[in-house]
Order: sequence, then structure tokens, then C-alpha cells
Amino acid sequence: MLFLQITFLAVLLAAGDNEDAFQEQISFHMIHISSFYNHSWTQNWGSGWLGELQILGWNSNSYSVIFLRPWSKGNFSNKEITEMEKFFRRLHIELPPLIRKHASEWKFEYPFEVQMTGGCELHPREGKVVFLQYAYQGSELLTFQNNSWLPSSKGGTRAQEVCRLFNQRHVVNIIIQRLLRDTCPRFLLGLFDAGKADLQRKVKPEAWLSTGSNPGPGRQMLVCHVSGFHPKPIWVKWMRGEHVQQGTQQSGILPNADGTWYLQVFLEVEATETSGLYCRVRHSSLGGQDILLYLEHHQGSMGWIILAVMVPLVLLTCLAFWLRKRWSHCEPPPTLLPLE
Ligand SMILES: *[C@@H]1O[C@H](CO)[C@@H](O)[C@H](O)[C@H]1NC(C)=O
Ligand SMILES: *[C@@H]1O[C@H](CO)[C@@H](O)[C@H](O)[C@H]1NC(C)=O
Ligand SMILES: *[C@@H]1O[C@H](CO)[C@@H](O)[C@H](O)[C@H]1NC(C)=O
Repeated sequence: MLFLQITFLAVLLAAGDNEDAFQEQISFHMIHISSFYNHSWTQNWGSGWLGELQILGWNSNSYSVIFLRPWSKGNFSNKEITEMEKFFRRLHIELPPLIRKHASEWKFEYPFEVQMTGGCELHPREGKVVFLQYAYQGSELLTFQNNSWLPSSKGGTRAQEVCRLFNQRHVVNIIIQRLLRDTCPRFLLGLFDAGKADLQRKVKPEAWLSTGSNPGPGRQMLVCHVSGFHPKPIWVKWMRGEHVQQGTQQSGILPNADGTWYLQVFLEVEATETSGLYCRVRHSSLGGQDILLYLEHHQGSMGWIILAVMVPLVLLTCLAFWLRKRWSHCEPPPTLLPLE
């Protein structure tokens, strides 16, 4: 999503005190997307993310949060969760009519999308960073700073007009500020603690080889698939001997539905130059025992299959000749006689 690529214009707030409990940066953010199809029809999507893991969903029929993990409530009480839910429900109910009412004034053209993302990050050194912004059709419109909205420089007069209206909602803005600065970091720390076992679990990858679509005459596309691993960092290369092959290319690391990851690594080669090539997978779950998948493996196992079929066949033939010889006392065919 283009919107997620927009660099966060973040507000650096005071450094916290219990942030040395973790080594890396951790973050929680919410995403809310409203699709306005026409004057009367809007659809909403909401989700909550701990880093790259989705932990919350949103039921837009009942306006309620869906907890996707057993630990998705962190250490918050049901009362505190219900209060947060109430606030998001209000946003979901109030915002679309407000935007629709001003759509023509702001030159929003149907169909269009309004996207919101907001949350907090805790850094081991810099401390706490909070962010909240709105985008129209994937480009940034407003960012929230301190307790008010600022128009994005790219947003033009439209951004200034939306901003003016949003800044009239003082009470909502004060609640937003509290949610970002106080609630979000507390929720994040509690979540990180509750989900630790899940987040730090190690799951070994499975790997297999295939050939991709034919890239051209006499050439072959080799594909190494690696799936089902956790955590995300992984090293996968096409190699020959000790050498990483220069043309190795990698897909993005994509999420599986169960929270593990999936990846493909490609190498385009001359069809005659595949000998000795193998795919090497290194991952923290493998304890230093890299997975090595050789291309020749198929041919190798084919050889064994041929041998496994041939040996009994030869033995049977010998047995048949021996029996025939014993019963009929006739000579074996001349071709089988040893040459003298
Ligand atoms: C709005 O869009 C929905 C879905 O495409 C359609 O069913 C409905 O008739 C539209 N309403 C108007 C007023 O155009
Ligand atoms: C936010 O508030 C702080 C402290 O009150 C102030 O120093 C800073 O300039 C403000 N930032 C903006 C963008 O208003
Ligand atoms: C949850 O855990 C965090 C971090 O350990 C803590 O700051 C907070 O007080 C705990 N409880 C609640 C209800 O936030």
C-alpha cells in the first residue's frame, strides 16, 4: 500500500523509563481505511498491528474489535479495552458522514479512499515516538502533532481545509493525544510481554526446488521456495561450491496466514550449466545446520530408482536362465556366452 510507504513524520516525545526491557525497536499501530464508493455507500476496514504481525481486526457490522491472538489484549483490563473500543466505534460511526458532507467542498471525487494510520514506537535508545496521519488516495494529507493537526505540505489547500475542520474537534484531539502518548506505549509494553513466547518462537523453514517459466531458448529459471519460518530474518542463496551465484534474485518476504513467512529465490541459468548448483538456506531456527538443496538430487534419485528396478530384473533373468538350463539342459543363447 502506497500509504504505508510514506515516511512517518513523527513527534519525538519524552523518553520513557522502562524501555530497556527490549533490545530492538517495537511498535504498535492501527490502520483504518474507509472506501467511499458513492454518496451513500462506504465500507470500513480496521486492523491493529504489533510490528508486522496483525493482532486486531475490526468487525464493521457490529463495530467491534476482533482479537486475533490469545494475548491481543496485552495486560489491559476488559474495562480499558472497552473504553478504547468505544472511542474507535465513535470514529467509525462519525467520520464517514463528516467526510461525505464535505466531500464536494474538499474536491474528494467518488470513488475514493481515506486512510488513517497511527500508533507508537519504543526505541531502546531514543525512547518513545508517536505518530498519526490521514491520507487521501494514498497521499499524505494531515499529521497529528502535540494536540493538533498539521496539513501536509503536499496536500495543498485541500489539506488546509480538512485540517481546519479537524482542529475544531478539541475534545476528540485531547483524547487522541492521550491515547497516543499514554495508552499506546503502555498497551505496547504489555502486549510485547504477553506475546513474547509467540513473537520469539522459532519455526524451521521447509524448502523445495522447482523450475519457473522458461526465460528463453536454452535457458532455465531455477526457483528455491522457502516457507513456514519464523522469525522473519533469513538468508537464502543459489550457490555453486562456496560461491554465491551473482544472478540470484529474491522475492519479497511474504506473510503466511499462520504468522510464518514465505520467500522465493530465483536464478536464471544456461540449461547446460546447472551442474553443481544448490540452494542454501540459513535461519536462526536451524541452529547452524543450513538446508542444502541440490539440483542434481532429482537426477541422483532417478539413478537409484533405475538401479533398484534393474538389479531385481537382472537377477530374475539370471534365475530364469538357470532354471531353464536345469530343466531343459539346453545351452543359454549364444550371445550370453563368454567370449574366448
Ligand atoms: C452505491 O454503490 C453501491 C455499490 O456499488 C450500489 O449498490 C448503490 O446502488 C449505489 N448507490 C447510489 C446512490 O449510486
Ligand atoms: C509540541 O510541544 C512542544 C512542547 O510543548 C513544543 O516544544 C513543540 O514545538 C511543539 N511542536 C509542534 C509541532 O507544535
Ligand atoms: C502493563 O504493562 C506495562 C509494561 O510492563 C505497564 O507499564 C502497565 O502499567 C501495565 N498495566 C496496564 C494496565 O497498563
